[in-house]
Amino acid sequence: MQRETSRLKDILDDFLRYAGKLELDRQPTDINQMIEELADFFSPQAQLQRVQLRVRPSGEKLIVSLDARLIKQAVLNLMLNGLQAMGSDGGEMILGTARENGEARIEVIDTGPGIPSEVTERIFQAYYSTKQGGTGLGLAMARRILHEHGGRITVTSEPGKGTAFTLHLPESTNWLRSPV
Ligand SMILES: Nc1ncnc2c1ncn2[C@@H]1O[C@H](COP(=O)(O)OP(=O)(O)OP(=O)(O)O)[C@@H](O)[C@H]1O
Ligand SMILES: [Mg+2]
Repeated sequence: MQRETSRLKDILDDFLRYAGKLELDRQPTDINQMIEELADFFSPQAQLQRVQLRVRPSGEKLIVSLDARLIKQAVLNLMLNGLQAMGSDGGEMILGTARENGEARIEVIDTGPGIPSEVTERIFQAYYSTKQGGTGLGLAMARRILHEHGGRITVTSEPGKGTAFTLHLPESTNWLRSPV
């Protein structure tokens, strides 16, 4: 009962955050450092599932104006999805950053079963879930967070091989690159 209640509370919290207004608290953030922290936080969970977690930071320092709490939440949702997709068979997850076409990117790649092309449009819709007990709000939230930042989220997937989600953050003039 207690567990049910707390599960319901989690669902409600997610929903309220999704429906309510998102106030961004933007700060210049080193996203290479951010992915290192996320990897550290996530690695016990990955190890339990025999998933190799690799961090691939960009060569140059990438400082982006963003709400770190919300962007971390979005990336964690992607990492959790990747882990859940790979199940107990283990696999590999890569967490990377890059600077391309005037934007900063954060990428989460897994070697799970992939997503059939017919459904890739639908996975971002609220309440779309193929999991028992899944809320289907994880990706909807992640997309919302990126939109609030003036960015977007894209996915490429190859069934049988894996999936790559990319967070695209627009270059924020002054502090994308730190002074040398
Ligand atoms: N890395 C992935 N590999 C394969 N399928 C994925 C991946 N990420 C998301 N999906 C698919 O997209 C659906 C929606 O994901 P989303 O995170 O929005 O909700 P969920 O994970 O099902 O539920 P919750 O986030 O509440 O646990 C998933 O149910 C799954 O079918
Ligand atoms: Mg999810």
